[in-house]
Amino acid sequence: MTIVALVPAAGRGERLGAGVPKAFAMVGSEPMLVHAVRRLLEAGVDEVVVAVGPDELEMATGLLGEVAKVVVGGADRVASVRAALQHADPDSDVILVHDAARAFVPVDVIRAVIEAVRGGAAAVVPVLPVVDTIRSVAPSAVVDRNNLRVVQTPQGFHPEVLRRAHALAAAEGLSATDDAGLVERTGLPVTLVPGHRSGFKITTPVDLEEARRMVPGTGPRVGSGLDVHPIEVGRPCWVAGLLFPDDDGCDGHSDGDVVAHALCDALLSAAGLGDLGAVFGTSDPRWSGASGAVLLTEVVGRVTAAGFTIANATVQLIANTPRLAPRRLEGERLLTAVIGAPVSIAGTTTDGLGLTGRGEGRAAMATALILGR
Ligand code: CTP
Ligand code: MG
Repeated sequence: MTIVALVPAAGRGERLGAGVPKAFAMVGSEPMLVHAVRRLLEAGVDEVVVAVGPDELEMATGLLGEVAKVVVGGADRVASVRAALQHADPDSDVILVHDAARAFVPVDVIRAVIEAVRGGAAAVVPVLPVVDTIRSVAPSAVVDRNNLRVVQTPQGFHPEVLRRAHALAAAEGLSATDDAGLVERTGLPVTLVPGHRSGFKITTPVDLEEARRMVPGTGPRVGSGLDVHPIEVGRPCWVAGLLFPDDDGCDGHSDGDVVAHALCDALLSAAGLGDLGAVFGTSDPRWSGASGAVLLTEVVGRVTAAGFTIANATVQLIANTPRLAPRRLEGERLLTAVIGAPVSIAGTTTDGLGLTGRGEGRAAMATALILGR
């Protein structure tokens, strides 16, 4: 029993707008196409033929050359499937056609499609019931959703059935987004099996976000940061990016802004990028006297360059001075603008206990939430 899977992956991904052809958009640490192929192999597929755009041939061969045949696709999906079909093992028993964009279809669905073809079905399609009410606009009417199904892939075929359907489509110059539909035109029935929500087609940026949440290690990540500085009489007092003219500031290589520094560490730790000392050094003259906002801007740049989006951050100042309450909102607005995500600031004392209680120093603790690649 030889099972071949054809994977059309030559689309441009106009609706996704990822800046790369859709199949090569990263989901976690790997392109969508690699996830799709892995699931097919896990389900027991013997040969995978991937059709990509001519410009992506080399990259796709580098990524998948050891586990799949990589060929050049065509101008529309039918042409890409046909190109892959020409390179498929001529003696196969089952052929699947599977969109690279449905990268997270459960292995069980793939197996169910294969089983149905092995059981004698000419063409097999995984489907979902329609849950929304559907309205036709021409003619204007609500359509009975009980008669409708959402079509997914992989679709499974007896090889001769698929070849005949594509030959007919080519002769008639037909384009279609669905291979089973082409089979139906040859007069053969289509068998339906249950699909799965995870087999959704990644089409828009929202879909890509959903897909990214399905890959371990790409969901939300939390980080925490703590900073403490001694108070030095006569130094300007910077806290949360604000200058407090009536208070003494903190000693330190930079401006001693414990709130900004704790935030920096929370963001760096969430992204797994080390800590302030590792990033800026404690002796690098570039950062001598640097303001908290400047350090924070640099950190935000590194976190976003690593592929993360900042969701929000909170920071608590632990100190007798300055009095934060009157300027809390001002500080929140400033830091929110710097990190591009909501920052909330709180203040507390330690009731006279410890170094902050005795007024020898200030501390701050921060938590940051970032969203993965
Ligand atoms: N496809 C293909 N060759 C084409 C067009 C599409 O192989 N010329 C593939 C896509 O790569 C995708 C599948 O067919 O895996 C489903 O197509 P779709 O979701 O429409 O992807 P794109 O065409 O890339 O997206 P868009 O229509 O938004 O540009
Ligand atoms: Mg398309």
